[in-house]
Amino acid sequence: MSKPQVLVARAVFPEAVARLSEHFEVETNDSDELWPKAELIRRLQGKVGVFTTGSERIDAELLDACPQLRICANMAVGFNNFDVDAMTARGVLGTNAPDVLTETTADFGFALLMATARRITESELFLRAGQWTKWSFDMFAGAEVHGSTLGILGMGRIGQGIARRGAHGFGMKVVYHNRSRLSPELEADCKARYVAKDELLRTADHLVLVLPYTPANHHSIGADELAQMKPTATLVNIARGGIVDDAALAQALKERRIAAAGLDVFEGEPRVHPDLLSVPNVVLTPHIASATIATRRAMADLAVDNLIAFLTTGQPRTPVNPQ
Ligand code: DGY
Repeated sequence: MSKPQVLVARAVFPEAVARLSEHFEVETNDSDELWPKAELIRRLQGKVGVFTTGSERIDAELLDACPQLRICANMAVGFNNFDVDAMTARGVLGTNAPDVLTETTADFGFALLMATARRITESELFLRAGQWTKWSFDMFAGAEVHGSTLGILGMGRIGQGIARRGAHGFGMKVVYHNRSRLSPELEADCKARYVAKDELLRTADHLVLVLPYTPANHHSIGADELAQMKPTATLVNIARGGIVDDAALAQALKERRIAAAGLDVFEGEPRVHPDLLSVPNVVLTPHIASATIATRRAMADLAVDNLIAFLTTGQPRTPVNPQ
């Protein structure tokens, strides 16, 4: 009997493809370029599953053109590339890759906070450009990290990881805002205090965004929110582009209405708003918060596990729309 067919929509670890091949007939995109939508639809014909990397848009048009598709397994914890309602309405499962990237992503969030507060990129560029000719008392003086107030918007697993690093490692006072409050036990573990969003904006010395993107939180941080922040504050976004209004942020950075920002995600990435590229007080990285080999392997493995579990039991391990 022939095996069911799956598509791997972008280049991934060969070991992941090999595991899939034990259960499925696998077609792969061996390049790390996304296929245009029409090509993706063409390749999906006859496929029951697709391994996606978080950027392939799975919407009603695609689903209607690929009626055999039953499961889309994202190698990402975020799944804003899925139109979940359209998938659910058509009985198509989506899965994501939670947990396996939590600590690695929290490490990166904290690294970006540190680099932003202590002006590491800006000062390195200065040095590389041969501009370092003398000592000066306030050269690249940045913002204090230890003992400062860490604000976290979005207190899921990654937010909690950042809170623990700040509270336990750096003696920071942690305040957070989230759709729902953590249990008293988790609040105690993270040494975090729940506050309203306005208070979070007003009190944070370093504000880290870790909330999932939904249309409801599009531009959650725009000109009005930036205006509430301290002029000495820094903003770090490791969540998703679109949560921050990048044009408003670039303007605030240019006018020093906040001190600095660290951004790993951008609206419309890999395009980066040109105004962000022209301000010095921002650290920019290309969406690499989960990028260690071990974590990326674990994310790929979980996506593969989801496809295999669906095939063998009908139930993937980490569905985003259980049916
Ligand atoms: C995720 O897993 O959502 C990260 O942003 C990597 O895509």
